[in-house]
Amino acid sequence: GGEAHVEDFKFSFEGPFGTWDQNQLQRGLKVYTEVCSACHGLRYVPIRDLEALGYTEEQVIAYAATLEVYDDELEDFRPAKPTDHFPANTAVGAPDLSMMAKARAGFHGPYGLGINQLFKGMGGPEYIASLLVGYTGEEKVEAGATLYENTAFPGGWISMGPPLYGEDVDYDDGHANDLHHIAADVSAFLMWTAEPKMMQRKQAGFAGVFFLVVLSVLLYLVNKRIWAPIK
Ligand code: HEM
Repeated sequence: GGEAHVEDFKFSFEGPFGTWDQNQLQRGLKVYTEVCSACHGLRYVPIRDLEALGYTEEQVIAYAATLEVYDDELEDFRPAKPTDHFPANTAVGAPDLSMMAKARAGFHGPYGLGINQLFKGMGGPEYIASLLVGYTGEEKVEAGATLYENTAFPGGWISMGPPLYGEDVDYDDGHANDLHHIAADVSAFLMWTAEPKMMQRKQAGFAGVFFLVVLSVLLYLVNKRIWAPIK
């Protein structure tokens, strides 16, 4: 048990000027595909959205064909198409990861106020990465279920065994694949699945702030002018 610990990972998308690192998102997709998808689904994520990671239409079609989705009309499984969503996976009761990076975004830091999210940009992806590197190696069996000690998981014991050990996948871009990097990469990818329009949101925010600044200046000048004869 004890205090859950969330480490401050530095992600490229943090802060007002942060952007996705497309290579990192591609690496994270690979980790998800080769490791996490054995137990977890991404049921809310349209496969064709992968084009935003820099893949061509052909690459997305080829990737989709490696996945199996259940077709209600066929009443059977078939290879996925880009217009399908990633498969759901409920086999071992692992939660869907589509929105996990947002579901676990807040409540870290002193008094669970989410202060660390505001000041250090720490949120869901930090939590997921910390979870993946947070295993102590201790296990116990409780009511027939094996629990693994984890320094990031609230309560300290999780039923997910350590999914990553480092060097679990080979990266096409030759990037380091130690545990820390793999954990960060898949967490960045899961941030993207949870908020694919993050950059658009930031840009809209800038447009809004810019508009308000211009409006403030104009109002100030108009105000001075209106009151000039009286003062
Ligand atoms: C729970 C991530 C691989 C089984 C979770 C949670 C996350 C996560 C974020 C939620 C923790 C929470 O509730 O706060 C990942 C990632 C994986 C991965 C990123 C790949 C790198 C796996 C694999 C399995 C698995 C391969 C099965 C062998 C589970 C189960 C839970 C869980 C059963 C529920 C745990 C509990 O609530 O005690 N996982 N997971 N996961 N995962 Fe995974």
